Amino acid sequence: MNGNFNMKRQIPIAKPLLGREEEDAIRGVLRSGMLVQGKQIKAFEEAFADYIGVEHAVAVTNGTIALDLALKALKLDLGDEVIVPAFSFIATSNCVLFHGAKPVFADIDQKTFNIDPADVNEKVTGKTKAIIPVHLFGQPAKMDELKEIAQDHEIYVIEDAAQSHGAEYKEQKTGSLGDIGCFSFYATKNMTTGEGGMITTNNSEVTKRIRLLRHHGQTEKYHHTIIGYNYRMTELSAAIGLVQLGKLEERNEKRMKNAEKLDEGIENLHGLTPPYVEEYAKHVFYQYVVKVEDDYPLERNKLADHLKEMGIGTAVHYPMPIYKQSAYRKLGYDKKICPVTEESCRRVLSLPVHPSVNEKDIQYITAKLQTQSFS
Ligand SMILES: Cc1ncc(COP(=O)(O)O)c(C=O)c1O
Repeated sequence: MNGNFNMKRQIPIAKPLLGREEEDAIRGVLRSGMLVQGKQIKAFEEAFADYIGVEHAVAVTNGTIALDLALKALKLDLGDEVIVPAFSFIATSNCVLFHGAKPVFADIDQKTFNIDPADVNEKVTGKTKAIIPVHLFGQPAKMDELKEIAQDHEIYVIEDAAQSHGAEYKEQKTGSLGDIGCFSFYATKNMTTGEGGMITTNNSEVTKRIRLLRHHGQTEKYHHTIIGYNYRMTELSAAIGLVQLGKLEERNEKRMKNAEKLDEGIENLHGLTPPYVEEYAKHVFYQYVVKVEDDYPLERNKLADHLKEMGIGTAVHYPMPIYKQSAYRKLGYDKKICPVTEESCRRVLSLPVHPSVNEKDIQYITAKLQTQSFS
């Protein structure tokens, strides 16, 4: 110790915002003694369906399970194919493997990182049963084009909306655009229940089946009509979710404002490409992802190291295409299937954009992206 205080700012890449209201809500549940299958779940499901603009919402244990149940509800079978992006969190394609079906990887648009409808079209075969677009980083995928492909081939669209709570495509919320929407409420998401997930749909039959599958196929106490699971959310999680949902719009606004300020700070920096926002999109910035180009003075990982040194948390979403993960190589996926995905994996860097990031933080971040700060 040399006696100097370390005055460096510390800006984490994510920070769950939980406070007094969540505490009160949890205390209420604990006092009620009703920890499962009570009023909170029903209220959370109704409020979420209402917010998204769908008829039904079913709360489940997490986003991975939401995707799993969505595919189960569509009766996905051995040998079926499902088209997914390779540039996503691994759950997007793992859920296909859970059913003995085959994830077929489509490439992404180089500006938005979202799945490229033209490549999806190329990848459709007679065995394709569904497409799972991810609204990556909080920006909706090109839903009109994807839905047209789906209609032409009579296949389903399951939205992976794990990163897009409140995002809009042509003024319609993600999770209401395809056949089924799947959300995650993991701790770092725009709204959280710790762990948690939600399935959204306008299809009553699908909802009925998902509710059955979530609860051991039980139609009445100890009468089970199909083989199901226990994928239920707890009342505690739902109570937190209700509070978080009430704060979502305001927090998304803050994320969007932060993104705007980051854009301004990055605009004149040669070699850093800020996120591209589509005309049709309300992008809710789950992540603010820049591309570190060849003419930037530091290579991506070196820049991440430099920012870490300066107290700024960053992340790489995602360092490799899903098919290059060793779990997938073991399944035989070893070819260079998606060139734009591969290139993006080398260049992307997520900077802090969450609602706790303030104006001074943003000035600090953008200052540390300037060449002068490297020495
Ligand atoms: C795109 C995407 N899909 C699926 C998931 C899975 O959600 P969960 O972590 O709640 O299981 C996540 C969450 O991290 C995600 O980002």
